[in-house]
Amino acid sequence: MPPNRPNLSKIASTAIPKDHDKLHAPSAFRNREAIIDAIGPFIPSSGKALEIASGTGEHVPRYAAVFPNIIWQPTDIEPDRLKSIAAHTIESGLDNILLPIFLDACNPGWAVDNMGQDVIILSNLLHLISEPEMQALISQAALALSENGVFLIYGPFMHGTNFASDDDKAFHESLQNKYPEIGYKAFQAVQSAQMQAELEVLEPINMPSNNFILVAKKK
Ligand SMILES: C[S@@+](CC[C@H](N)C(=O)[O-])C[C@H]1O[C@@H](n2cnc3c(N)ncnc32)[C@H](O)[C@@H]1O
Repeated sequence: MPPNRPNLSKIASTAIPKDHDKLHAPSAFRNREAIIDAIGPFIPSSGKALEIASGTGEHVPRYAAVFPNIIWQPTDIEPDRLKSIAAHTIESGLDNILLPIFLDACNPGWAVDNMGQDVIILSNLLHLISEPEMQALISQAALALSENGVFLIYGPFMHGTNFASDDDKAFHESLQNKYPEIGYKAFQAVQSAQMQAELEVLEPINMPSNNFILVAKKK
């Protein structure tokens, strides 16, 4: 998590040590096939993809296996996550995943080193950052996308001010108790940041466990 929010990872994501550097997130393992089914229609037949906040690194080997003509670049900011992503990547034996790189998605300016992306995918980060950080992330992603590139954001969101469940509300409150500036975003707020970044907003996809995938395209 960003250095100014120590301990956020402890309340926000479970990452269980496996062998060597590998970490295991049960939720990443559970949701990845549903994510793959949902994003399939948006993945081009070839090109390059940037995964922001790859976490334990358990999503990207499946993406790379199912979409073999895409070169996948995983990223994160935490050293233990970067090591875990590298370990999962190497274990996969796939040659269409690059070794992970450090990328702070809230840092204005990251797009210049990561231009020409046909796909940018991000899961489970927006509730862990502030609204201005989300806006910076979205405007950088819009810059980094190539023409017709697609931006896929998976996670839990509010509908306006409504939570999808009591558990979502409780999780949001636990995040805000720790760091008042973070928490769930309304999907309308995400979409409005995408429109401001001149992305075309497509229909959100309903996912299991009250999650969504928000889809936007570079015109
Ligand atoms: C809840 S985990 C989600 C991981 C993975 N995407 C998933 O869905 O299982 C959040 C991840 O975001 C990373 N992260 C936090 N702040 C970030 C930032 N500013 N830029 C990039 N990654 C960040 C954390 O290190 C962590 O790996």
